[in-house]
Amino acid sequence: MKTKITELFDIEHPVIQGGMHYVGFAELAAAVSNAGGLGIITGLTQRTPENLAKEIARCHELTDKPFGVNLTFLPTVDSPDYPGFVRAIIEGGVKIVETAGRNPAEVMPYLKAAGIKVIHKCTSIRHSLKAQQIGCDAVSVDGFECGGHPGEDDVPNMILLPLAAEALDIPFVASGGMADGRSLAAALALGADGINMGTRFIATKEAPVHENVKQALLAATERDTRLIMRPFQNTERVLNNPAVERILEKERTLGSKISFDDIAQEVVGVYPRVMLEGDMNAGAWSCGLVASLIHDIPTCDELVQRIVKDAEQIIRQRLNQLL
Ligand SMILES: Cc1cc2nc3c(=O)[nH]c(=O)nc-3n(C[C@H](O)[C@H](O)[C@H](O)COP(=O)(O)O)c2cc1C
Repeated sequence: MKTKITELFDIEHPVIQGGMHYVGFAELAAAVSNAGGLGIITGLTQRTPENLAKEIARCHELTDKPFGVNLTFLPTVDSPDYPGFVRAIIEGGVKIVETAGRNPAEVMPYLKAAGIKVIHKCTSIRHSLKAQQIGCDAVSVDGFECGGHPGEDDVPNMILLPLAAEALDIPFVASGGMADGRSLAAALALGADGINMGTRFIATKEAPVHENVKQALLAATERDTRLIMRPFQNTERVLNNPAVERILEKERTLGSKISFDDIAQEVVGVYPRVMLEGDMNAGAWSCGLVASLIHDIPTCDELVQRIVKDAEQIIRQRLNQLL
């Protein structure tokens, strides 16, 4: 399957693994890239540019295929060392960067001067247009279904993707709610040139997270995610658990008086405890509605092959026979 995205990133299949905190280590990124998709290391999980440089070097040892690094711009006062991360990316010979959080205008000149292709992940048409305007090569359009931060507009992909197709000149991938060949065929039909998946890639053999996390995804239904932190305009879709119930209760009872300190215990420092130690109730962690469509734990290669084969079959047989 050749699309503008496979051509742009020089990959075999139009399937991208989005950056995921404490999930997107070299093992997963390399496994996705070796499967012919585009694997992405999560920059900020490495905490320092020096650690990121080592993780990039490790990924080069695990694959000779293209892979990317995610740079998430956080809404924090103490900003991470973004110039240092950018240097590690450039010096590490990485040629693709996924940006998210806010538009990457401040780092674009450095990335572009180094010949790096930038795919910006965002949740609205106006932010996609801004990304196009500042020179991003592609956009990852993240619908309301997505795990992580769906923004504040609550527009699902059935609406967002065709609007993106109408508005954008640069290629885009569908992100949020993507699980299988049906998702890929649908995304292509709606005008996307590929898919970006987060949650689905956590339930793979190579994802270097605790088995409890994978089992939680297998058990989840379409009614098991919740939206937290809306009062802070920093909405996050997470898997429900007692910590999430506590956050929602505080949001309900404290109303406009709520401050971040009120929920800090349930959201700060949670990822290593959940992802590495398997402490599933340690706090709130991102999870998409798509968890309900996850029924097995394949290798990344099995997953990507199956997605592409099933999409091809849907296009060639099911759709063709309807005509
Ligand atoms: C556990 C988890 C952690 C994530 N962490 C990040 C992150 O650090 N930076 C980022 O840009 N996106 C992050 N995301 C979002 C994903 O890259 C992707 O956009 C999203 O998962 C797509 O929706 P899906 O889960 O329905 O596939 C995370 C998602 C999950 C599930």
